[in-house]
Amino acid sequence: MRSNIVAGNWKMNNDLAASNALVHEIMNQVAELTLENTRVIVAPTFVNLSSVVEVAKESAVEVAAQNMHQAASGAFTGEISGEMLKGIGIESVILGHSERRAYFGEDDALLAEKVNGALKNNLEVIFCFGEELEDRKSDNHFNVVESQLKNGVFHLEAAAWKNIVLAYEPVWAIGTGETASPEQAQEMHAFIRNLIVDTYGAEVANEVSILYGGSVKPANATEIFSNPDVDGGLIGGAALNADDFVSLVKSF
Ligand code: PGA
Repeated sequence: MRSNIVAGNWKMNNDLAASNALVHEIMNQVAELTLENTRVIVAPTFVNLSSVVEVAKESAVEVAAQNMHQAASGAFTGEISGEMLKGIGIESVILGHSERRAYFGEDDALLAEKVNGALKNNLEVIFCFGEELEDRKSDNHFNVVESQLKNGVFHLEAAAWKNIVLAYEPVWAIGTGETASPEQAQEMHAFIRNLIVDTYGAEVANEVSILYGGSVKPANATEIFSNPDVDGGLIGGAALNADDFVSLVKSF
């Protein structure tokens, strides 16, 4: 179901103690709020997932993984499967983050396999995509986004979309302090929703949450989130501070 979502991607930050402390602080602050159709998600590193799940259980804060391997099990040293995530109480997984694409060679074909692996385990997928600066400068951003979506998630059947959240993250705005303007975000999000309408129809498209990511912070969140096709954010830097993160939740 389409809802507002504020998801914090902690990336490779926070050891065990810091992860537990941060989720605890977020939980305490979120408990004071009335969340109307708004989900709050944190994504710690793999090693701290179990512990954060334990701390956050019975709270409104959900816990997601930052990645997973596409296979169910096997000789894949250092990897973690969807089944394993499910087994420790994880319900969502971020896939296709631009850092995975850029530094770990994850391409569209691999990501489609990962999406399939996640859905097979009844994990919700937060699927990330977005153009590089050169793509936008050369006015190629719509083509890039369309092709990432077509290759990564448009092979799915309509029914699978209830477990898909999209996160449009222009690479030039991630961790740079530079943000897409509210108009740029809305323009791209409307384009994305129209692509879904074209392939799956309006009913599916209207039920998909489409998040924006890239230097979202308390100072710009309200403006970005108030766009009709922006259903929240995937947050990096500002997710590492409980006050900042929860203030993003409050901006709905
Ligand atoms: P940022 O990261 O908020 O630090 O730009 C966003 C992301 O990587 O999802």
